[in-house]
Amino acid sequence: MTGHWALYQDTLVPRQDAKTDIEDRGYQFGDGVYEVIRVYGGKLFLAEAHAKRMERSLRELRISFPNCVERVLKGATLLIEAEGIDDGIVYLQISRGAASRVHQFPTPDPIPVFSGTASPLPRPVQLMEQGCEALLLPDIRWLRNDIKSLNLLGAVLSKQQAKEAHCHEAILERNGILTEGSSSNLFIVSLGELLTHPANNLILNGITRQEILRLASEEAIPWKEKSFTVDELLAADEAFICGTTTEIMPLIQIISINEQNKHERHKIGSGLPGGVTRTLQQAFTRLVEACAAGSGNKP
Ligand code: PDD
Repeated sequence: MTGHWALYQDTLVPRQDAKTDIEDRGYQFGDGVYEVIRVYGGKLFLAEAHAKRMERSLRELRISFPNCVERVLKGATLLIEAEGIDDGIVYLQISRGAASRVHQFPTPDPIPVFSGTASPLPRPVQLMEQGCEALLLPDIRWLRNDIKSLNLLGAVLSKQQAKEAHCHEAILERNGILTEGSSSNLFIVSLGELLTHPANNLILNGITRQEILRLASEEAIPWKEKSFTVDELLAADEAFICGTTTEIMPLIQIISINEQNKHERHKIGSGLPGGVTRTLQQAFTRLVEACAAGSGNKP
Protein backbone atom coordinates (compact mmCIF):
# COMPACT_ATOMS: atom_id res chain seq x y z
CA MET A 1 0.00 0.00 0.00
CA THR A 2 1.09 3.49 -0.77
CA GLY A 3 1.34 6.42 1.64
CA HIS A 4 -1.05 8.08 4.07
CA TRP A 5 -3.05 10.11 1.58
CA ALA A 6 -5.05 9.49 -1.56
CA LEU A 7 -6.63 11.76 -4.10
CA TYR A 8 -10.33 11.12 -4.52
CA GLN A 9 -12.40 13.34 -6.86
CA ASP A 10 -9.83 16.18 -6.77
CA THR A 11 -9.59 16.15 -2.97
CA LEU A 12 -7.03 14.72 -0.58
CA VAL A 13 -8.46 12.12 1.77
CA PRO A 14 -6.77 9.83 4.30
CA ARG A 15 -5.63 6.70 2.43
CA GLN A 16 -7.99 4.38 4.34
CA ASP A 17 -11.03 6.51 3.44
CA ALA A 18 -10.50 6.21 -0.34
CA LYS A 19 -12.99 3.56 -1.45
CA THR A 20 -14.08 2.29 -4.86
CA ASP A 21 -17.65 1.26 -5.60
CA ILE A 22 -17.97 -2.50 -6.26
CA GLU A 23 -19.54 -1.67 -9.65
CA ASP A 24 -16.87 0.79 -10.75
CA ARG A 25 -16.14 0.12 -14.43
CA GLY A 26 -12.43 0.50 -13.87
CA TYR A 27 -12.71 -2.46 -11.53
CA GLN A 28 -15.05 -4.55 -13.70
CA PHE A 29 -13.79 -3.78 -17.24
CA GLY A 30 -10.51 -1.90 -16.89
CA ASP A 31 -12.62 0.93 -18.33
CA GLY A 32 -10.42 3.91 -17.57
CA VAL A 33 -7.03 5.50 -18.02
CA TYR A 34 -3.98 6.24 -15.90
CA GLU A 35 -0.69 8.11 -15.82
CA VAL A 36 2.52 7.75 -13.82
CA ILE A 37 4.33 11.06 -13.34
CA ARG A 38 7.89 11.33 -12.02
CA VAL A 39 8.86 13.55 -9.12
CA TYR A 40 12.46 14.72 -8.69
CA GLY A 41 13.49 16.78 -5.66
CA GLY A 42 9.81 17.30 -4.83
CA LYS A 43 9.05 18.72 -8.31
CA LEU A 44 6.84 17.23 -11.01
CA PHE A 45 8.75 16.18 -14.14
CA LEU A 46 7.18 16.64 -17.62
CA ALA A 47 3.80 16.73 -15.91
CA GLU A 48 2.00 18.78 -18.52
CA ALA A 49 2.89 16.24 -21.22
CA HIS A 50 1.51 13.44 -19.03
CA ALA A 51 -1.67 15.42 -18.33
CA LYS A 52 -2.18 16.04 -22.06
CA ARG A 53 -1.66 12.38 -22.86
CA MET A 54 -4.26 11.52 -20.21
CA GLU A 55 -6.67 13.95 -21.88
CA ARG A 56 -6.04 12.17 -25.19
CA SER A 57 -6.57 8.71 -23.66
CA LEU A 58 -9.88 9.93 -22.16
CA ARG A 59 -10.95 11.32 -25.52
CA GLU A 60 -10.21 7.98 -27.22
CA LEU A 61 -12.38 6.21 -24.63
CA ARG A 62 -15.05 8.95 -24.86
CA ILE A 63 -14.94 9.64 -21.12
CA SER A 64 -15.95 13.21 -20.42
CA PHE A 65 -13.67 14.81 -17.83
CA PRO A 66 -13.58 18.62 -18.10
CA ASN A 67 -10.38 20.60 -17.39
CA CYS A 68 -8.29 17.44 -17.34
CA VAL A 69 -4.85 19.08 -17.58
CA GLU A 70 -5.53 21.55 -14.80
CA ARG A 71 -7.04 18.90 -12.50
CA VAL A 72 -4.21 16.42 -13.10
CA LEU A 73 -1.53 19.00 -12.30
CA LYS A 74 -3.39 20.16 -9.20
CA GLY A 75 -4.06 16.63 -7.95
CA ALA A 76 -0.45 15.56 -8.48
CA THR A 77 0.82 18.63 -6.61
CA LEU A 78 -1.54 18.03 -3.69
CA LEU A 79 -0.33 14.44 -3.39
CA ILE A 80 3.41 15.12 -3.44
CA GLU A 81 3.03 17.90 -0.91
CA ALA A 82 0.86 15.80 1.42
CA GLU A 83 3.24 12.82 1.24
CA GLY A 84 6.38 14.98 1.34
CA ILE A 85 7.81 13.19 -1.72
CA ASP A 86 11.39 13.97 -2.73
CA ASP A 87 12.20 11.46 -5.52
CA GLY A 88 9.10 9.45 -6.31
CA ILE A 89 6.06 8.97 -8.48
CA VAL A 90 2.46 10.06 -8.64
CA TYR A 91 -0.07 7.53 -9.92
CA LEU A 92 -3.33 9.00 -11.23
CA GLN A 93 -6.33 7.12 -12.56
CA ILE A 94 -9.68 8.08 -14.05
CA SER A 95 -12.32 5.39 -14.49
CA ARG A 96 -15.59 5.84 -16.34
CA GLY A 97 -17.35 5.49 -12.97
CA ALA A 98 -19.85 3.16 -11.35
CA ALA A 99 -22.98 1.79 -13.05
CA SER A 100 -24.96 -1.47 -13.33
CA ARG A 101 -22.83 -3.86 -15.34
CA VAL A 102 -23.36 -3.62 -19.11
CA HIS A 103 -20.52 -3.74 -21.64
CA GLN A 104 -21.59 -0.70 -23.65
CA PHE A 105 -21.31 2.79 -22.17
CA PRO A 106 -24.04 3.14 -19.51
CA THR A 107 -26.71 5.83 -19.89
CA PRO A 108 -26.73 8.33 -18.43
CA ASP A 109 -22.94 8.79 -18.21
CA PRO A 110 -21.71 7.80 -14.76
CA ILE A 111 -19.52 10.28 -12.86
CA PRO A 112 -15.86 9.47 -13.64
CA VAL A 113 -13.78 8.54 -10.61
CA PHE A 114 -10.50 10.44 -10.36
CA SER A 115 -8.10 8.92 -7.86
CA GLY A 116 -4.39 8.80 -7.15
CA THR A 117 -1.51 8.17 -4.80
CA ALA A 118 2.10 9.29 -4.48
CA SER A 119 5.05 7.25 -3.28
CA PRO A 120 8.81 7.56 -2.94
CA LEU A 121 10.93 5.91 -5.65
CA PRO A 122 14.67 6.44 -6.03
CA ARG A 123 16.24 6.69 -9.48
CA PRO A 124 17.33 3.20 -10.69
CA VAL A 125 20.98 4.29 -10.70
CA GLN A 126 22.59 0.87 -10.48
CA LEU A 127 20.67 -0.65 -13.39
CA MET A 128 21.13 2.50 -15.46
CA GLU A 129 24.86 2.19 -14.91
CA GLN A 130 25.23 -1.57 -15.43
CA GLY A 131 22.44 -2.28 -17.88
CA CYS A 132 19.87 -5.03 -17.66
CA GLU A 133 18.53 -8.15 -19.36
CA ALA A 134 15.23 -8.53 -21.16
CA LEU A 135 13.12 -11.53 -22.10
CA LEU A 136 11.80 -11.67 -25.65
CA LEU A 137 8.10 -12.60 -25.71
CA PRO A 138 5.18 -12.45 -28.14
CA ASP A 139 3.13 -9.27 -27.82
CA ILE A 140 -0.15 -10.67 -26.52
CA ARG A 141 -1.75 -7.25 -25.86
CA TRP A 142 -4.65 -5.61 -27.70
CA LEU A 143 -4.38 -3.29 -30.71
CA ARG A 144 -4.84 0.09 -28.98
CA ASN A 145 -1.67 0.34 -26.94
CA ASP A 146 -1.57 4.06 -27.75
CA ILE A 147 -4.26 4.49 -25.08
CA LYS A 148 -2.84 4.36 -21.56
CA SER A 149 -5.77 2.28 -20.36
CA LEU A 150 -6.23 0.28 -17.18
CA ASN A 151 -6.28 -2.97 -19.21
CA LEU A 152 -2.78 -4.19 -18.36
CA LEU A 153 -3.10 -7.99 -18.19
CA GLY A 154 -0.88 -8.51 -21.25
CA ALA A 155 1.78 -6.39 -19.55
CA VAL A 156 1.27 -8.07 -16.17
CA LEU A 157 1.68 -11.61 -17.57
CA SER A 158 4.70 -10.61 -19.65
CA LYS A 159 6.45 -8.81 -16.80
CA GLN A 160 5.86 -11.77 -14.48
CA GLN A 161 7.36 -14.15 -17.04
CA ALA A 162 10.36 -11.82 -17.36
CA LYS A 163 10.79 -11.76 -13.60
CA GLU A 164 10.69 -15.56 -13.44
CA ALA A 165 13.49 -15.59 -16.06
CA HIS A 166 15.47 -13.13 -13.84
CA CYS A 167 15.02 -10.37 -16.40
CA HIS A 168 14.18 -6.76 -15.68
CA GLU A 169 11.78 -6.34 -18.60
CA ALA A 170 9.88 -8.25 -21.28
CA ILE A 171 10.30 -6.91 -24.80
CA LEU A 172 7.46 -7.71 -27.09
CA GLU A 173 7.34 -8.97 -30.66
CA ARG A 174 4.37 -8.81 -33.00
CA ASN A 175 4.62 -10.38 -36.49
CA GLY A 176 8.41 -10.35 -36.37
CA ILE A 177 8.56 -6.66 -35.34
CA LEU A 178 9.57 -5.44 -31.88
CA THR A 179 6.98 -3.06 -30.51
CA GLU A 180 8.03 -2.03 -26.98
CA GLY A 181 8.58 -3.31 -23.45
CA SER A 182 5.79 -4.38 -21.11
CA SER A 183 6.11 -0.99 -19.33
CA SER A 184 8.74 0.82 -21.38
CA ASN A 185 9.63 1.88 -24.93
CA LEU A 186 12.46 0.25 -26.83
CA PHE A 187 15.31 1.80 -28.85
CA ILE A 188 18.24 0.36 -30.75
CA VAL A 189 21.34 1.95 -32.21
CA SER A 190 22.20 0.47 -35.58
CA LEU A 191 24.90 1.83 -37.93
CA GLY A 192 25.07 5.01 -35.86
CA GLU A 193 21.33 5.64 -36.11
CA LEU A 194 18.84 5.60 -33.24
CA LEU A 195 15.67 3.64 -34.11
CA THR A 196 12.38 3.21 -32.29
CA HIS A 197 8.95 1.90 -33.31
CA PRO A 198 6.70 4.58 -34.85
CA ALA A 199 4.10 6.07 -32.51
CA ASN A 200 1.05 4.22 -33.83
CA ASN A 201 -1.62 2.01 -32.25
CA LEU A 202 0.89 -0.74 -31.41
CA ILE A 203 2.82 1.21 -28.75
CA LEU A 204 2.37 3.81 -26.06
CA ASN A 205 3.95 7.06 -27.23
CA GLY A 206 6.06 7.42 -24.09
CA ILE A 207 6.74 10.86 -22.69
CA THR A 208 10.31 9.71 -22.00
CA ARG A 209 10.53 8.38 -25.58
CA GLN A 210 9.49 11.79 -26.95
CA GLU A 211 11.99 13.56 -24.71
CA ILE A 212 14.76 11.19 -25.86
CA LEU A 213 14.04 11.98 -29.52
CA ARG A 214 14.24 15.69 -28.69
CA LEU A 215 17.53 15.17 -26.83
CA ALA A 216 18.91 13.07 -29.71
CA SER A 217 18.31 16.01 -32.07
CA GLU A 218 20.04 18.36 -29.60
CA GLU A 219 22.99 15.98 -29.36
CA ALA A 220 23.14 15.60 -33.18
CA ILE A 221 22.41 11.86 -32.95
CA PRO A 222 20.61 10.75 -36.14
CA TRP A 223 17.26 9.09 -35.37
CA LYS A 224 14.28 7.60 -37.12
CA GLU A 225 10.89 6.29 -36.02
CA LYS A 226 11.17 2.98 -37.83
CA SER A 227 10.25 -0.51 -36.73
CA PHE A 228 12.92 -3.22 -36.52
CA THR A 229 12.99 -7.01 -36.36
CA VAL A 230 14.30 -9.39 -33.73
CA ASP A 231 17.36 -10.06 -35.92
CA GLU A 232 18.04 -6.32 -36.16
CA LEU A 233 17.83 -6.04 -32.37
CA LEU A 234 20.23 -8.93 -31.87
CA ALA A 235 22.66 -7.42 -34.39
CA ALA A 236 22.35 -3.86 -32.99
CA ASP A 237 25.34 -2.01 -31.54
CA GLU A 238 23.28 -0.79 -28.60
CA ALA A 239 19.79 -1.11 -27.20
CA PHE A 240 17.92 0.49 -24.33
CA ILE A 241 14.49 0.72 -22.79
CA CYS A 242 12.98 3.89 -21.37
CA GLY A 243 10.08 5.15 -19.34
CA THR A 244 9.00 7.32 -16.46
CA THR A 245 10.31 4.97 -13.77
CA THR A 246 12.95 3.27 -15.96
CA GLU A 247 14.56 6.48 -17.34
CA ILE A 248 17.14 5.27 -19.91
CA MET A 249 18.25 1.73 -19.13
CA PRO A 250 20.78 -0.06 -21.33
CA LEU A 251 19.84 -3.55 -22.51
CA ILE A 252 22.98 -5.66 -22.46
CA GLN A 253 21.54 -9.12 -22.93
CA ILE A 254 18.40 -10.56 -24.52
CA ILE A 255 16.97 -13.94 -23.58
CA SER A 256 14.83 -15.66 -26.16
CA ILE A 257 12.85 -18.88 -25.76
CA ASN A 258 13.52 -21.49 -28.45
CA GLU A 259 11.24 -24.21 -29.83
CA GLN A 260 12.40 -26.65 -27.14
CA ASN A 261 11.30 -24.05 -24.58
CA LYS A 262 14.93 -23.43 -23.59
CA HIS A 263 16.43 -20.00 -22.96
CA GLU A 264 19.00 -18.68 -25.41
CA ARG A 265 21.16 -15.72 -24.40
CA HIS A 266 22.25 -13.02 -26.85
CA LYS A 267 24.67 -10.25 -26.00
CA ILE A 268 23.87 -6.81 -27.42
CA GLY A 269 26.96 -5.19 -28.95
CA SER A 270 29.92 -5.63 -26.63
CA GLY A 271 27.63 -6.66 -23.76
CA LEU A 272 28.21 -3.30 -22.07
CA PRO A 273 26.21 -0.04 -22.23
CA GLY A 274 27.14 1.80 -25.43
CA GLY A 275 28.27 5.35 -26.19
CA VAL A 276 25.04 6.72 -27.69
CA THR A 277 23.09 5.35 -24.71
CA ARG A 278 25.54 7.03 -22.32
CA THR A 279 25.28 10.37 -24.13
CA LEU A 280 21.49 10.26 -23.91
CA GLN A 281 21.59 9.21 -20.24
CA GLN A 282 23.81 12.19 -19.42
CA ALA A 283 21.56 14.61 -21.30
CA PHE A 284 18.52 13.14 -19.54
CA THR A 285 20.20 13.42 -16.14
CA ARG A 286 20.80 17.11 -16.80
CA LEU A 287 17.04 17.53 -17.29
CA VAL A 288 16.34 15.61 -14.08
CA GLU A 289 18.78 17.76 -12.12
CA ALA A 290 17.34 20.96 -13.58
CA CYS A 291 13.86 19.79 -12.56
CA ALA A 292 14.96 18.98 -9.01
CA ALA A 293 16.75 22.34 -8.70
CA GLY A 294 13.70 24.22 -10.04
CA SER A 295 11.85 26.67 -7.87
CA GLY A 296 8.34 25.26 -8.07
CA ASN A 297 6.14 22.61 -9.58
CA LYS A 298 6.59 23.84 -13.09
CA PRO A 299 5.37 21.21 -15.51
N1 PDD B 1 4.63 2.67 -18.03
N2 PDD B 1 5.20 1.65 -22.95
C1 PDD B 1 4.41 1.09 -22.02
C2 PDD B 1 3.62 -0.11 -22.39
C3 PDD B 1 4.34 1.65 -20.74
O1 PDD B 1 3.53 1.11 -19.81
C4 PDD B 1 5.13 2.78 -20.41
C5 PDD B 1 5.11 3.42 -19.07
C6 PDD B 1 5.95 3.33 -21.42
C7 PDD B 1 6.80 4.53 -21.20
O2 PDD B 1 6.01 5.68 -21.17
P1 PDD B 1 6.43 6.97 -20.33
O3 PDD B 1 7.78 7.35 -20.80
O4 PDD B 1 5.40 7.97 -20.69
O5 PDD B 1 6.44 6.58 -18.89
C8 PDD B 1 5.95 2.74 -22.68
C9 PDD B 1 4.32 3.25 -16.76
C10 PDD B 1 5.43 3.97 -16.12
C11 PDD B 1 3.68 2.20 -15.87
O6 PDD B 1 2.81 1.50 -16.37
O7 PDD B 1 4.00 2.12 -14.69
